[in-house]
Amino acid sequence: LAHAAGKLWLGSATDQPGTGEDTDTLYQEILNDTHIFGQITPANYMKFFATEPEQNVFNFTGGQVAVDIAQDHGKYLRCHNLIWLSQLSEWVTDGNWTAETLTAVMKNHIQTLIIHWGDACYSWDVVNEALASNGSFASSIWYDVIGPEYFFLAYQFAQEAVEATGKDIKLFYNDYGIEDTGNKTQALYALIQEMQSRGIQIDGVGLESHFEVGATPSLETQIAAKQGYVALGLEVAMTELDIRFVEANATNCTGFAMQAQNYYDSVSSCIQVDGCIGITVWDFDDTYSWIPGTFPGQGAADLYNADFTRKPAYYAVGEALQSV
Ligand code: G3I
Repeated sequence: LAHAAGKLWLGSATDQPGTGEDTDTLYQEILNDTHIFGQITPANYMKFFATEPEQNVFNFTGGQVAVDIAQDHGKYLRCHNLIWLSQLSEWVTDGNWTAETLTAVMKNHIQTLIIHWGDACYSWDVVNEALASNGSFASSIWYDVIGPEYFFLAYQFAQEAVEATGKDIKLFYNDYGIEDTGNKTQALYALIQEMQSRGIQIDGVGLESHFEVGATPSLETQIAAKQGYVALGLEVAMTELDIRFVEANATNCTGFAMQAQNYYDSVSSCIQVDGCIGITVWDFDDTYSWIPGTFPGQGAADLYNADFTRKPAYYAVGEALQSV
């Protein structure tokens, strides 16, 4: 499944070190298997709190684990993420900033990470989840202190760093709620056009694709949204795909068949759009899914059951990828 016909990857988020994944040999075997996953994304340990725990004191240890897994097993690496409203270090959230001092923090963080890992990263999610559901900028320390310019500045700083490395490192925007053709997607199309009119580099959009069984956007809708980004000259990736059961008692044969169909359509939407470069699941085994921690009572969202047996969804994804 890993690199269907050399056209796109199937990848997974992963979360070593410091979690059960660390010592779970069956997990590691599946993750490392180059026939299954051709790409990985660190779920947490390249984030701000992990990489700059104190101001200008950088910790690359956790992130390097992802770099090593990718390099040892011939996988692409999506680096995630540089500027987000969440999972910040306390010195950032508790700091007494002016627009000028916080902009300097942002610049130092973005440029240090991009330059450190260079083209070990296929891409960086430069800004993550900046938009509210109505398409306006969401409140965050970055927005509240610096104003909307923080968004454009982040990409300018990233672009300078990429130029300093002389490497081809793609700059992405990553978000949820932008997988259909609704208001948030339309606002993002407009924001991308504004960046382009200002000459600011953006290479791609990551569509998180956290869906619900039975309420997943249709194949046609997902294709249309992706085509909109590609028409603006960007790459598209599905970056955090999982399809959760909202009702725990729906995890029966009918439910798993519907989940499989929802996965099939989602993966097919990427296959059917030239410019959709890959699909990443937000971890592959229900044991390590983020869903129950955030949505109590919901879950069973991943391709593998908690005991590492494969769900119908796993085979549906395989079928879709083999159709490439
Ligand atoms: O680091 C602490 C640890 O010290 C403590 O013992 C433990 C006890 O709960 O918590 C650890 O922090 C957890 C952190 O992940 C690091 O593992 C938090 O509780 C937990 O809430 C946090 O969740 C992460 C979440 O982002 C935070 O919003 C998930 O693992 C991660 O999968 C998730 O990923 C996000 C993407 O980055 C962006 N898109 C949405 C996606 C899902 O929420």
